[in-house]
This record gives sequence, structure tokens and C-alpha cells, in this order.
Amino acid sequence: MNKVILVTGANSGIGLALCERLLSQDMEGLQLCLACRNMHRAQAARSALLSSHPTAQVDLLQMDISSVSSVICAAHQVKLRYSRLDYLYLNAGIMPNPQFDVKAFFRGLFSSNVITMFATAEGILTQKDSITSDGLQEIFATNLFGHFLLIRELEPVLCHAGHTSQLIWTSSSNAHRSAFNLEDIQHRRGNQPYSSSKYASDLLSLALNTHYNKEGLYSSVTCPGFVMTSLTYGILPSFPAFLWILLMPLFWIIRIFTNTFTLTPHNGAEALFWLFKQKPESLNPQVKYHSLTSGLGNNYTQPCKMDIDFEMSEVFYEKLLQLESEVRKKLKAKQQKSSTSFSPPAGSS
Ligand SMILES: NC(=O)c1ccc[n+]([C@@H]2O[C@H](COP(=O)([O-])OP(=O)(O)OC[C@H]3O[C@@H](n4cnc5c(N)ncnc54)[C@H](OP(=O)(O)O)[C@@H]3O)[C@@H](O)[C@H]2O)c1
Repeated sequence: MNKVILVTGANSGIGLALCERLLSQDMEGLQLCLACRNMHRAQAARSALLSSHPTAQVDLLQMDISSVSSVICAAHQVKLRYSRLDYLYLNAGIMPNPQFDVKAFFRGLFSSNVITMFATAEGILTQKDSITSDGLQEIFATNLFGHFLLIRELEPVLCHAGHTSQLIWTSSSNAHRSAFNLEDIQHRRGNQPYSSSKYASDLLSLALNTHYNKEGLYSSVTCPGFVMTSLTYGILPSFPAFLWILLMPLFWIIRIFTNTFTLTPHNGAEALFWLFKQKPESLNPQVKYHSLTSGLGNNYTQPCKMDIDFEMSEVFYEKLLQLESEVRKKLKAKQQKSSTSFSPPAGSS
């Protein structure tokens, strides 16, 4: 039987590189489903994959992960199409309006923290968030909550007796406990919503293991390292493309000191691909699997213990369930309102 793999944010960067790597390894027994918000970009990604793997099975699914109704609708489609999902890669993510703190960067450059600063961007990146039409913080909704809702909706195809399925998150080494607050899980008040959302995915993954392992569903988190994608180019939007190219030799040199500079999407997808080949029962729910590239360009995966605990993950999980029930109620009320406003007046034919 084919292995069915759904990848969110599959039309570019790390998601697309992962699909390419999966097909290169074993295209006979795989059925890939690219879940993307923009169907033109999704089609282009599908064509690119099929040009190098003409017989591969690559399906498309329209889904805006930041929208509650879009996620529910897409999950419905998945349940109609597939009886089982073997892998769900929770990869779509945004870091909009990033602000690069030049002063903090130069301070870090001449401090003993320089390697950590390059490896995790700690202290040098802040973002301006916005609100979705569902009333959620956009970065939280995209990077975390939409994926949580997707998992909840896909339970019937993810949890099967006698069979295991895997959830694989693209988290980040920028996931800092200091950026996350249980009293403000959407990060409405701070200026590091990206870091908060990634720490939240680490916490959620632990809680998902606690609640779903007995049903055969396992969750792991990865960090792709520092990869040149549209997300990274967005950090300095006014930076012309040729300057990034000029910086590349410097990045290759930095890689000698910090192997987290994976740089290409292919290298960044290493840990995501490595997890595909592991038995989920053998994985440690408290570690993050890092994609690393050596100075000589060799890729490998390294587990690192996360700064998370069970108690905090459980409290967070309860809060997410509560938020889920609130957004579902809101959606129902919205749907009822629009159906009554469109219903013909009594007595009309
Ligand atoms: N690049 C790095 O150095 C780095 C480091 C750590 C973690 N990460 C994580 O890696 C993941 C992939 O990012 P990337 O670096 O490969 O950047 P990317 O090329 O910009 O890929 C992000 C993907 O997410 C999709 N996406 C964004 N918002 C979406 C939405 N509302 N609904 C559906 N899809 C949506 C994008 O689709 P569109 O094309 O439609 O925008 C795109 O396909 C992200 O979760 C990111 O946080 C990246």
C-alpha cells in the first residue's frame, strides 16, 4: 500500500526540497499531497517535481493554514481522498515584517555570544504581527494554531489501530522559552511572535505525544538551520538579491564555526527527511532534531534536548483545546448568520 504524505507549505523552500528528496528516495510507494494556499504556486511546484520524477503521484490541496474555515474544508477533502495519512509535515510558516536590530547585531558580533547569535538569531529579530479574519494573531494562526486544528480534524485518518503515523513540525532554533507566555499564547503583547509560535510548536509536539501515542500517532520537531529561502530574504527586504549572493562566501566561512548554517533548502530538509526513515516509537519526544551541515558540506541530523516540560505542555494543550472550541463556535455562528441573511423572506416563492 502507498505511503500517503501531506506537506504544508510545499510549494517553496524547505517544503519543496523535502518533497524532492522524498521522491528521489522512493517514488514508487509514495503518494504526495502538496497543501498550499496559492494554487498557481502549487501547480508550478507540482510541475517541477514531475519534470524530474514523471511517474510520481503528486496531488494538490488548496489550504490557507491561517484560516479556520479553509483548514476545515481542506481536511474534509483529505478525508474524502485518503483512508489513511502516514506522514503529516507541519511546515508552512511565516515571519512577516521582520525588524533586524542592527545595534544588537553589532553588540553580539563583538561578544562571547557571537556563535549563538548566528545560530539562533536570539535578540536580533523582532516582528510586527497582524490579526486574521478569525480574530487570531496571524503568526500564531499560521505557524501553530492552523496546524493544530488540521491535526484535530484529521484524527480519523491519522489514528489507526495497529498502524503508526507521524507528525513532523518545522520548528526553529529561534524557539525561545523567554519569548513565550502561557498567559498570552498568541503573543498579542510582545514583539517576538515568531519565536513564541515556534516555542509553542515544541510544547505542542510534546503534548501531542502524551495524548496520541496510544492511538499510534507520534510527533517530532525539527530545526532546518539557517536556510536561504523567501522567508530569510524577507528579513532584509530592501537588500538587493546580488548582495545576498555576495554574502554567500561569508556564510560558507561561518559554517566552519557553526554547522547550523545549512544554507540550501536541500540541506535544511535533512532532519525532516531523516525522520521519514525512522521508527516513530524509537524517537525521543523531548528532543528537537536539527539539520546540520559540516564545513565540508556533509549533511547529518543531531538530536538536542529542548527547554520544555510536561506540565507546561499540558497547560498549553488545554488552552489550545479551549481556543479551538471558541473558534468553532464563532465559525458556526458566522455560518448561521450568513445562511439566515441569504434565506428568502417568509412567504416568497
Ligand atoms: N529558512 C530558515 O532559515 C528557517 C529556519 C528555521 C525555521 N524555518 C521554518 O521552515 C518552514 C518553511 O519555511 P521556508 O524557510 O522554506 O520559507 P518559504 O520558502 O517562505 O516557505 C514557507 C511556505 O509556507 C507557506 N505558507 C505561508 N503562509 C501560509 C498560509 N497561510 N497557508 C498555507 N501556506 C502558507 C508558503 O506559501 P506561499 O508561497 O504561498 O507564501 C511557503 O510555501 C517555516 O515554518 C519556517 O518558519 C525556516
